[in-house]
Amino acid sequence: MGRRIESEQSTKPSLVPYFFFLLPLLVLIANHHCSFPPSNTTPGPNPRRDPGRPAMDPYRHRPSSGNNSSFWTTNSGAPVWNNNSALTVGQRGPILLEDYHLIEKLAQFDRERIPERVVHARGASAKGFFEVTHDVSHLTCADFLRAPGVQTPVIVRFSTVVHERGSPETLRDPRGFAVKFYTREGNFDLVGNNMPVFFIRDGMKFPDMVHAFKPNPKTNLQENWRIVDFFSHHPESMHMFTFLFDDVGIPLNYRHMEGFGVNTYTLISRDGKPHLVKFHWKPTCGVKCLLDDEAVTVGGTCHSHATKDLYDSIAAGNFPEWKLYIQTIDADHEDKFDFDPLDVTKTWPEDIIPLQPVGRMVLNKNIDNFFAENEQIAFCPAIIVPGIHYSDDKLLQTRIFSYADTQRHRLGPNYLMLPVNAPKCAHHNNHHDGFMNFMHRDEEVNYFPSRFDPARHAEKVPIPPRVLTGCREKCIIHKENNFKQAGERYRSFDPARQDRFIQRVVDALSDPRVTHEHRSIWISYWSQCDASLGQKLASRLNLKPNM
Ligand code: HEM
Repeated sequence: MGRRIESEQSTKPSLVPYFFFLLPLLVLIANHHCSFPPSNTTPGPNPRRDPGRPAMDPYRHRPSSGNNSSFWTTNSGAPVWNNNSALTVGQRGPILLEDYHLIEKLAQFDRERIPERVVHARGASAKGFFEVTHDVSHLTCADFLRAPGVQTPVIVRFSTVVHERGSPETLRDPRGFAVKFYTREGNFDLVGNNMPVFFIRDGMKFPDMVHAFKPNPKTNLQENWRIVDFFSHHPESMHMFTFLFDDVGIPLNYRHMEGFGVNTYTLISRDGKPHLVKFHWKPTCGVKCLLDDEAVTVGGTCHSHATKDLYDSIAAGNFPEWKLYIQTIDADHEDKFDFDPLDVTKTWPEDIIPLQPVGRMVLNKNIDNFFAENEQIAFCPAIIVPGIHYSDDKLLQTRIFSYADTQRHRLGPNYLMLPVNAPKCAHHNNHHDGFMNFMHRDEEVNYFPSRFDPARHAEKVPIPPRVLTGCREKCIIHKENNFKQAGERYRSFDPARQDRFIQRVVDALSDPRVTHEHRSIWISYWSQCDASLGQKLASRLNLKPNM
């Protein structure tokens, strides 16, 4: 067999003489190509001979971040020899359907937008690290809090709440303050706001509340009468309005604002002892706000002023930093107060439940890509690590469901595979497939239990030991105490700040579609917070205070 091939080959004419004849011509052509400076409009090098092109390993999957060819290609990697003109019949003729590159380019462009977040659509992200500065290992077995000096990478997304993705960052609105800790035991998301309380205490009301804040579905305008109308049914919101209508309702930028976990979580020690916990971020550069007329000027000049401030500060090496504090309550003492500590419309008074320092967070790196690290990032209050658990806070319990649900819709079922969302530690389970699954797997055993798969259960994680009992019911909490903390906060303002606050309430209640009944109810609520506040509002609105 081998011999026969040898003899067949020997009968073919040799190509060697032709090669020597063609060599000078090839050199001439190659030199001619090289004599033009490379530009994005001149033809590129031949893909098969381009020494700059990384070698292809057909047995490896291209990393999802691979955008590394020195010449244009289609998404499937074929060389694109003209990225300027569509393929037409003749010079002026119609475009051919076979211009696959053009069609792919347009189709990709047509699908560039993904659904924006239903709330907190407008945001800015940055990366950095969290460092433990104080020992809290007696309170929690969370690995990333195990000892002073331990550092954990983080990414933070700041946001406004109500308006759309391109809205001005100077509007009066709470600000989101969401931190993703990439710990060795999985991600921990602390999804907070810049105000320590919330408008409502039962998640059942969240969609209606957001509808009331969002633009009128008919006019597409945010209208105060809808907000005043909705909250006239919710006296528990007054405390939150003492933040929203205060100066902190428009932060100077994202660097100069506090952050709060808002909801109550549970810290659990290694031996299973639970403590209710609230988280607080304090900016080292202080809290600063924009007054209303300043906000108009700043917003009129740059509607992305807070994004720009964050990016520019980090780029200039002026790294934003926050200190993390916690307040803790022994889980057995939760009935000791005149308010319910799991009521998200309440703060825990710092004179009786002091702030305890835990660590610091420094944002020292800007994101590389806004879409990948801001639009595709997915925070979720349900994402916790061993040593941190939820509490029975009803609003938190609702949030545990809502975020991952919206993200499966907004980003697809494999959203946790996206690089910004994926844990940085190893992971293993049999959840697989689904739209846009890009994980390469080659296992044959995708069920559990199996004698072929050596993966075991992790070590048992301590969870709150409390025995839960009760019948099924839909009800409100017993200790509503809607007005006390709101009044205390109003009284803590200096007179000028009180006056600015009153003016903002008056402006909201002056909407022509706000009725006499609405105004009376709101003034009655504010009177119960603080009698003098009720009187001032009533006199500015020409109403009798109604206790
Ligand atoms: C039951 C009450 C709540 C529900 C149902 C709810 C629901 C949602 C939803 C659906 C999103 C969009 C998430 C996404 O598309 O990725 C979101 C975003 C967000 N929520 Fe809530 N939320 C609630 C209360 C709160 C509270 C009390 C806070 C503050 C502690 C908060 C802070 C945030 C933040 C910061 C974001 C933006 C996260 C990011 O930057 O991507 N939410 N919320």
